Amino acid sequence: MAFKKVCTRDDLWEGEMQSFEVNGQEILLVCAEGGDIKAFQGICPHQDIPLVEGKFDGKTVICRAHLWQFDACSGKGINPSDCALAEYPVKVDGEDILVETDGVKPLFAHT
Ligand code: FES
Repeated sequence: MAFKKVCTRDDLWEGEMQSFEVNGQEILLVCAEGGDIKAFQGICPHQDIPLVEGKFDGKTVICRAHLWQFDACSGKGINPSDCALAEYPVKVDGEDILVETDGVKPLFAHT
């Protein structure tokens, strides 16, 4: 499979996050401070909670359930630090934001 259009830049402003279903996978798109666009697994690695229901301050995604925090640039866990979000490749083509889901599996934590 190839990159698939998810939305346009108008749908995702700097400091915002949105979730989309792409090829049957829940994807969280974030536009971090500075305009960097990243795609991560949409479900929290802790339990079955959509991350889009949490908070995003432009740098950190915070799950609403137990307040786990993730770096919006790398997907790495900040608190706790022994977890991470799986990251999907993103391509920006003009106004379009595209994501590739092939070969990426959501991660689940061991804590
Ligand atoms: S389900 Fe996300 S922190 Fe627990």
